[in-house]
Amino acid sequence: MKRTHHCAQLTPSDLHATASLAGWVDSVRDHGGIIFVDLRDRQGITQVKFDTNLRAEAALLKAESVIAVTGKVELRPEAMMNKNLPTGQVELDASELVVHNISETPPFPLTDAGGDKVNEDLRLTYRYLDLRRPKMRKNLLTRHRATKAVRDYFDAQEFIEVETPALFKSTPEGAREYLVPSRIHPGEFYALSQSPQQFKQILMVAGVEKYFQIARCFRDEDLRSDRQMEFTQIDVEASFIDREGIYALFEGMLKKVWQEVCQHDLPTPFPRLAYHDAMNRYGVDKPDTRFALELVDLSDTFNTSGFKVFASTIASGGCVKAFNAKGLADITQGEIGALEEIAKSLGAKGLAFIKVEAGEWKSPIVKFFSEAEKAALTQKLSIADGDIIFFAAATWERACAILGRTRLEAAQLLVKRGRLTIRADQWNFLWVVDFPLMSYDEETKRYVATHHPFTAPVPEDTALIDSDPKAVRGQHYDVVLNGMELGGGSIRIHQPTLQKKIFEDVLKIPADVVESRFGYMLKAFTYGAPPHGGIAFGLDRMVALLCGTTSIRDVIAFPKTQKAQDLMAQSPTPVTAKQLKDLHIQTVIPPQ
Ligand code: AMO
Ligand code: AMP
Repeated sequence: MKRTHHCAQLTPSDLHATASLAGWVDSVRDHGGIIFVDLRDRQGITQVKFDTNLRAEAALLKAESVIAVTGKVELRPEAMMNKNLPTGQVELDASELVVHNISETPPFPLTDAGGDKVNEDLRLTYRYLDLRRPKMRKNLLTRHRATKAVRDYFDAQEFIEVETPALFKSTPEGAREYLVPSRIHPGEFYALSQSPQQFKQILMVAGVEKYFQIARCFRDEDLRSDRQMEFTQIDVEASFIDREGIYALFEGMLKKVWQEVCQHDLPTPFPRLAYHDAMNRYGVDKPDTRFALELVDLSDTFNTSGFKVFASTIASGGCVKAFNAKGLADITQGEIGALEEIAKSLGAKGLAFIKVEAGEWKSPIVKFFSEAEKAALTQKLSIADGDIIFFAAATWERACAILGRTRLEAAQLLVKRGRLTIRADQWNFLWVVDFPLMSYDEETKRYVATHHPFTAPVPEDTALIDSDPKAVRGQHYDVVLNGMELGGGSIRIHQPTLQKKIFEDVLKIPADVVESRFGYMLKAFTYGAPPHGGIAFGLDRMVALLCGTTSIRDVIAFPKTQKAQDLMAQSPTPVTAKQLKDLHIQTVIPPQ
């Protein structure tokens, strides 16, 4: 039987026509001997009526069975019409039925609400059923549309898509990587590519000028809702481009994606925020600017305070920061306890707070404050009745981190109380710029690249590389949307001498290691490397936000669990002794 229509197609204009449909049984209802089947395919649902000799066979159908039917299009009785369904005025009066497969009863209801209620592990074990749910089908479609818009955009801008190897070599200075043993070279390994970074720069040396790739990347990271071991980047590199060029290029891409996927006109250019300001005001380098609750520096107010914790922290080079969680004075003891736990996990010694209720400041620390300090606080934090102020006294980095996190948690508590609205479809994009090129790692007593060692310094800071590496800003930029880092990139170093200097003199990588790891790249750069720069965007994260979810697992067809397992195919698995032997591998845990 050949399908003539899909299940969202038949309307009264097809009356009396013969049609063949195929799909899944959404439901079976027995109405006094007449069997009604809602037949579903990826487009929609059509009601099929069995009241001929097919009745008995149709009565045996179970939900999720796969069938094909031929019949005549008829109008439903007036009372049976469903105005909410495109096909809701008609039904197919079946004259022929082919049962392709009877389904077992699914382990959970395949509706949006039904699937949302069950444990995610169950959904992932039966992912093929989970993906039949309308919401998941829509997510896959949104991903397809977004990816297509990206490809069309870069094609129109004369970028070409070039595939780079997934099997690359080990680059231990990045994230932890997946090693792949070589059978042909005993004891040697490939590494799965963490990103096409080095290849895309080499492509610039190769004269490609405008490269992009929808690239699969692999990182052995601790998995979270916004991190998978295997994920997809929209990866881009261009020659003869500066930061402004990259901003305009990507604002254009995002505009197109938002236009095509949700018919929304994104305002451009996006605001820009220096890294230092982002940290100072929001306590993170990926601020959610959909709400305020901004952090305020109070070091000037408290440097001679009677509250010794504050004064001594400032005296030893730290700072005191605070923010006003407006309207949250009715926070419960339990909620405060949870905030304190989070603050402590970030290294806080405490999380001092002041509640303002009926004109009174309630806090164990208020007795230490002078009238002048109180007046300054009231003014700097716009304190009013019903507010609660949270304080952190620590090093600048730590105070930012503690209050940055507390700010997000406090916002959620305000949302829960209906006092703050954070809309998933409010698109607060911004560029975070002027990151430090290097940061000092106390543990190893060495400078490390803030992002990666290929980032070019801001030209006016280049002179400081030897004297004050920490003060050098990188030509790096991140795109942030609603508190999520969507992408990041930089203008690169294209002079082999400067790149070598960064590796050897600043990052202190021994010359022989530089040669074995990056020698090929440095060599390539001696054959005419154009100035270049680029960026990589997390496609999974972008699609997740477009779909209104914060978990990228919802927009990846077959994701891994938090424990890095594929519950459906059941991987990872042990392998045979012979496989290990062929790969010259011995494991500490004996093979099966
Ligand atoms: P970076 O490491 O910042 O940059 O990655 C770019 C973007 O990729 C996404 N991303 C991830 N998404 C899901 N799961 C993960 N484990 C994961 N890790 C990263 C994020 C991130 O912003 N080569 C550079 C880019 C460049 O300089 O051009 C790079 O890979 O959205
Ligand atoms: P203490 O005087 O140590 O009992 O602290 C008084 C209050 O200040 C308590 O609520 C502590 O949680 C808080 N506190 C202590 N140290 C800090 C700090 N470094 N930053 C913010 N609050 C602190």
